[in-house]
Amino acid sequence: MVDVILGLQWGDEGKGKIVDYFAPRYDVIARFQGGPNAGHTLYVDGKKVVLHQIPSGIFHQNTVNVIGNGVVLDPVTLKRECDIVAGFGIDVRKNLFISERTNIIVPTHRALDKASELQKGESKIGSTLKGIGPAYMDKTGRNAIRAGDLLDKSFISNYIKLRLKHQKLLDNFNFIEDISAWEEEFFEAVEFLKSLNIVNGEYFINNKISEGKKVLAEGAQGSMLDIDFGTFPFVTSSNTISAGVCTGLGVSPRQINEVLGVTKAYCTRVGGGPFPTELEDATGEELRKIGNEFGATTGRPRRCGWIDLVALKYTCMINGVTQMVMTKADVLDAFEDLKVCTAYNVNGKESKEVPFQMTRVQLNPIYESFKGWNCDTTAIKEAAALPSDMSTYIDFINRYVGAPVKYVSNGPGREQIVAL
Ligand code: GDP
Ligand code: IMO
Ligand code: MG
Repeated sequence: MVDVILGLQWGDEGKGKIVDYFAPRYDVIARFQGGPNAGHTLYVDGKKVVLHQIPSGIFHQNTVNVIGNGVVLDPVTLKRECDIVAGFGIDVRKNLFISERTNIIVPTHRALDKASELQKGESKIGSTLKGIGPAYMDKTGRNAIRAGDLLDKSFISNYIKLRLKHQKLLDNFNFIEDISAWEEEFFEAVEFLKSLNIVNGEYFINNKISEGKKVLAEGAQGSMLDIDFGTFPFVTSSNTISAGVCTGLGVSPRQINEVLGVTKAYCTRVGGGPFPTELEDATGEELRKIGNEFGATTGRPRRCGWIDLVALKYTCMINGVTQMVMTKADVLDAFEDLKVCTAYNVNGKESKEVPFQMTRVQLNPIYESFKGWNCDTTAIKEAAALPSDMSTYIDFINRYVGAPVKYVSNGPGREQIVAL
């Protein structure tokens, strides 16, 4: 059986911490999509670690970690991260496995990402500039180099072919930047990657499942950034939703069991694109300050706002969420009044659905107000000790969305989580 943990908003919901918390209950933790655009923060022995490519189960000696075929993998980021992980005494050669079908991010993907964003100007997506879009374009365009290809002698000639194709595109963009230093570190990192376990991912995982092992699929980004169902074109280039688990790991839909959706108690977004409940005022600033809302990958300030139940109900629907984890509830400790968005006013008409697009319509959120709990919740361990105003807030969300919040995260620490 495969359980899934994924983000229900625009990313950065705290997935890394939650995967790390649940990891001891699983034998295998597998990333199924995304790449180094992800930044998953964990605290190990009180030390902060941000993982971009490696699954968040890596710090548990008894879990096997898999980078699935649906991921785009930058060898440079991977090597850097393996060094960090090794500093904690973790041997990645023992518990990290990479699917041979995983697509490789090459230096020119990063250059193309940058060139494309520069050309878009004001309407840029706000990409993390890690080469995600161009790498997935080469996958669907059937040009990509995959991890298994690195082991074949044709790799260099295929790399040169791809590099030439990219150069023509870069010339079209009038992009002039010397990337020879990027290439040098790329080839060094490729040698390192070749020394890791590159396996047939789909057999690897399905064999584990047949042996009765428990698999946890770890999502990156968030459902509102999904290439099909997110706020297109301000999205990432992969299917971030539960359906992506099947294509990103090679497991059948019949194997998917629990889908745990992670949502903040409020909402954030980093990068461009629509964000109905965004607060561009002192309250938004306070959320950013208390929640320390700065990107784990790029350091950019995250846009902040109230929780959006229209979007949350939508993402629970497309993911088949069976339970939710509400993170950063402690960030709301200091607020006297809270708001939740229960509907949108779209061109003067009330709607409870996420529209096809949000940029060519007049869209305003409709809120219901709640009394804040106004007390420090960060040391609470038991559900019974949570303030009743928080329970009222959560009960309302449960009823609206139709999926229950089963865990409340009340701080960034590993132990700061309350089961309801
Ligand atoms: P991810 O991409 O979904 O893994 O989330 P990020 O790591 O990008 O961002 C989440 C941030 O919130 C990190 O800095 C976490 O350490 C922090 N965090 C996670 N859960 C909580 C929580 O319950 N309370 C607080 N205050 N911080 C949290
Ligand atoms: P985690 O896994 C938040 C956003 C970028 C940009 C858009 C496209 O940490 O939750 P891309 O680099 O994918 O082409 O960028 O998606 N984005 C994220 N936002 N968390 C992430 O990952 C993100 N990964 C990409 O800011 O708006
Ligand atoms: Mg993140």
